[in-house]
Amino acid sequence: MANSNLTEAQRAKNDEFYTQYADIEKEISAYLEFNPDVFRGKTLLLPCDDPEWSNFTKYFAQNFERFGLKKLVSTSYAVESKKYKSGYQPTLFETRAPYYDDVKTVKNGKIFTLTHDRTGDRKVDVDDLEWQYLEGDGDFRSAEIKKMRDEADVIITNPPFSLFREFLAWILEAGKQFVIIGNMNAITYKEVFPLLKENKVWLGPSISSGDREFQVPDSYPINAAGWRIDENGTKFLRIKGVRWFTNLDHGRRHQPLPLMTMADNLKYSKHKEIKGKQSYDRYDNYDAIEVPFTDSIPSDYEGVMGVPISFLDKYSPDQFEIVGRCENEDLYHLKTKVYTSAECRQAYFDKFGEKGTYDMNSNGVLLVDGLFEKTYQRVFIKHRKAIK
Ligand SMILES: C[S@@+](CC[C@H](N)C(=O)[O-])C[C@H]1O[C@@H](n2cnc3c(N)ncnc32)[C@H](O)[C@@H]1O
Repeated sequence: MANSNLTEAQRAKNDEFYTQYADIEKEISAYLEFNPDVFRGKTLLLPCDDPEWSNFTKYFAQNFERFGLKKLVSTSYAVESKKYKSGYQPTLFETRAPYYDDVKTVKNGKIFTLTHDRTGDRKVDVDDLEWQYLEGDGDFRSAEIKKMRDEADVIITNPPFSLFREFLAWILEAGKQFVIIGNMNAITYKEVFPLLKENKVWLGPSISSGDREFQVPDSYPINAAGWRIDENGTKFLRIKGVRWFTNLDHGRRHQPLPLMTMADNLKYSKHKEIKGKQSYDRYDNYDAIEVPFTDSIPSDYEGVMGVPISFLDKYSPDQFEIVGRCENEDLYHLKTKVYTSAECRQAYFDKFGEKGTYDMNSNGVLLVDGLFEKTYQRVFIKHRKAIK
């Protein structure tokens, strides 16, 4: 399954996934649609990139003038630091440069810069990119790349999946704007969820379901479903659960979800779990109602509601407030009950008829036909405005 590819990727620190041009274009276009000047006069840094593979550099270089950029800087990680580096061939672009150095080309990262029309063809585009070796290997944590971060206005990339938390913290400690790709699971990281709750970070608009294809190096060992090789021999892998994370505003954040009243949901919902019930279920361990589908959020409920994590794909901060999420520790002081070990063991026995423990403290719990039932991961929300 494509999903297990990502888990595998995280475990093995396989970080060589290259983003497709069309996916970058779709996402960035949405910010421009909301604010055509979002990049005007700005310095963009594309770290953890690799212009020989990367479409981020190509996309922003091609659109340099249209976006009104001041400067584009892209840095790559040294070939020898990469896990999948076998068969590395420097490009002609690189070997033709008078300062080409076959030791440095493996040991050092590279920096690509675009500021002006270098070729004299009266346009600024990918042909005007200049490159140099970095002093170091291009690790985003190095002092050399940190300095570039500090000089940039916006940071855009698909960072190594295995270093997502560290990468996001690295951006935020410098107070920069950003658009980066990560896994949906990052929403539940203890370092990330509070940022979503406080509206300091949110999901980008262009991916809200399905999987995405990423290019992988030729030497990448693929032994699972969800991959293909195109007519040029380029390998691609489909990855599930990817999302853009950002702090740039976009239009989807300001589109309220169309909702029905609680009474209408109970009468007309398309979900059999809701239609025909007397009321929404209430959790045994939270003072909140269980809303198993985002489209079933009642428009007229004033209290706290537990909704699926995928709600964040539709979340408008104008419409809702995020108040917390189900987790073991009661970080958001929403729990009304903490189950004892004996209760967890008893719940397991009642449910499965054998010895075990049903860890109810990490989830929302419903009482269904006299048995405790854990729900999937839930985010707790409230309507922002008082309901008339
Ligand atoms: C997921 S790939 C994405 C590449 C490119 N941004 C794209 O989307 O097409 C992440 C890249 O980060 C590089 N990388 C891994 N660890 C790094 C580090 N500590 N500092 C900088 N780059 C790193 C990997 O070698 C890889 O090229």
